[in-house]
Amino acid sequence: MAILMENFDWANLPFGYIKTDYNVRCVCKDGKWGKLEVSTSEYIDVHIAATGLHYGQEAFEGLKAYMGKDGKIRVFRWEENVKRMAASAEGIKMEAVPFELFRDAMFKVIDLNKKFVPPYGSGANLYIRPLLFGSGAEVGVKPATEYTFLIFVTPVGPYFKGGVKPVNMLICRDIDRAAPLGTGIYKVGGNYAASMRAIIAARNGGFSNTIFLDAKEKKYIDECGPANFFGIRDNTYVTPKSESILNSITNMSLIEIAKSLGMKTERRQVPVEELESFTETGACGTAAVISPIAKIFDPEKNKIYEYCKDGEPGPISMKLYKRLTAIQSGDEADPFSWVTVID
Ligand SMILES: Cc1ncc(COP(=O)(O)O)c(C=O)c1O
Repeated sequence: MAILMENFDWANLPFGYIKTDYNVRCVCKDGKWGKLEVSTSEYIDVHIAATGLHYGQEAFEGLKAYMGKDGKIRVFRWEENVKRMAASAEGIKMEAVPFELFRDAMFKVIDLNKKFVPPYGSGANLYIRPLLFGSGAEVGVKPATEYTFLIFVTPVGPYFKGGVKPVNMLICRDIDRAAPLGTGIYKVGGNYAASMRAIIAARNGGFSNTIFLDAKEKKYIDECGPANFFGIRDNTYVTPKSESILNSITNMSLIEIAKSLGMKTERRQVPVEELESFTETGACGTAAVISPIAKIFDPEKNKIYEYCKDGEPGPISMKLYKRLTAIQSGDEADPFSWVTVID
């Protein structure tokens, strides 16, 4: 039954799953993709020996559609998500989703669920979740011969209610999310399963999330749970270069915006001690855009690095945040051609 929208409290939506009317699915058998199907069910019938269930042959993406003041829906840099999903598929030997299939599936599922795109100014957006997994049966460890690709959408509220709120982070030294030559650069489920112990420990300790260090030397910053890290000092935007972090599309965009605002940008290894010298730090990703960091606690050194001492996000983080969200919603011109407007 189609969902009625009268009772939607857009301004108070959580960042969580809410049922929409339709999702789209497509199956690839022996290297041949079938027809894109539209479904009203939230469930899939999966073989008990599917490689996605047993061996973690699974990758996903996350992006958003935004309602503009002009009543048009905008999708941000989705081509980058297509590329990243293809890289993830290759990284764990799955069949990649062809560009045209991803594009058609995504625009179809948005169109079918248009009424779920939160109104302009509500602070909420439509989250788009593409998923690819091995649905073929295998018992030995090898790639499946069948893959299922699907996309569902769900309206989500702002990650932090009441705007951009500085968060506290815990440096994690006793759990690794991904190995240097492992799957950290791919958006595959196994990385997230591997990160959960650390994230729960951080939350139980009263922190918003964890900062992972490089797994080999534990000297350099990797990423902040499911977001990239950045630090700001002397008009310079610094972000880690690592073989085990996801290449965040938000971070790529912030680097371009920072350059366009006359800032210097550096993508390189960031030693933990450098935290001392930043005037602002933050986590960035699709969900939160930018979460400014108020405090970072390093338990091994019993040291707290403090930013946002007045409880307010730093001025450069806010400038970057405002510029990026204005481009995404269509409030400001898009000189980078990042946004696709759906007519
Ligand atoms: C591990 C990890 N790092 C970084 C990001 C941020 O990436 P993006 O900006 O493309 O959402 C995400 C979210 O997708 C993530 O899961």
